[in-house]
Amino acid sequence: PSANWGECMEAAVEIARKAGQVIREAVKHDKCVTTKSSAVDLVTETDHLVENLIISSLRAKYPSHSFIGEESSAAGEKCCLTDNPTWIIDPIDGTCNFVHSFPMVAVSIGFAVNKELEFGVIYHCLEENLYTARKGHGAFCNGLKLQVSKETDLSKALILTEIGAKRDPETLKIFLGNMERFLKAHVHGIRVIGSATLALCQIAAGAAEAYYQFGLHCWDIAAAAVIIREAGGNVIDTSGGPLDLMSRRVVAAGTQEMANHIAQMLETITYERDDYN
Ligand code: IPD
Repeated sequence: PSANWGECMEAAVEIARKAGQVIREAVKHDKCVTTKSSAVDLVTETDHLVENLIISSLRAKYPSHSFIGEESSAAGEKCCLTDNPTWIIDPIDGTCNFVHSFPMVAVSIGFAVNKELEFGVIYHCLEENLYTARKGHGAFCNGLKLQVSKETDLSKALILTEIGAKRDPETLKIFLGNMERFLKAHVHGIRVIGSATLALCQIAAGAAEAYYQFGLHCWDIAAAAVIIREAGGNVIDTSGGPLDLMSRRVVAAGTQEMANHIAQMLETITYERDDYN
């Protein structure tokens, strides 16, 4: 019954705060950096440490639940969303920022049951901002209610996006072409802050009108999607259809009009699905 998920959310908040403490301490020291899918897809020992901390703590409390974690998936664990209650975890979103001590770094914990997202917790640990939302209960940052922007006019939009890990010439051409199209449509500005989850939190907070990206993962979207929807916003697929958590692409915006407008303007960058195997 849904009454139980509130307790799970409290556990998520508690462990996100603990993880945040570890990250806040680790950011002051030298990092041991290695690469994953490409030379710019970074991982540190802190990503592994924090993911283990979060999953072992939640697994001890909820042994029958399923877990999808960024680093477990990178290590070859199956990334497959079933009807079982499932925790979807990014231990450090903004790893490249973390490596450079650039402060846009977050812990993201989403939770789905029957493939439906129930709650999301994103902890911007270096600034101590805690974003939380539970389906039907509103979205909050440090307890203050969040509300998306109601802007529908693209020429009045501040847009956020992220670059992603693929940097081959064809990908870059489409990426830059998409950006150019928005700049030519005279949007107010485009920002790339290096953390998909924190960029999405800005949409929930009404501090930017829209976000789009190709190449992000389910752990970058899961928690944020609940937070944006509960703040009154829209999260859809880049095709304009419903969000597919595993499809590695997203458009999020305060209004349906803005989301559709952005989706119509995008040329697709193809990435392998999160659940391809
Ligand atoms: C990444 C960051 C980055 C975005 C990538 C994400 P990570 O997450 O959010 O800004 O472009 O798509 O995967 O690897 O730092 O957890």
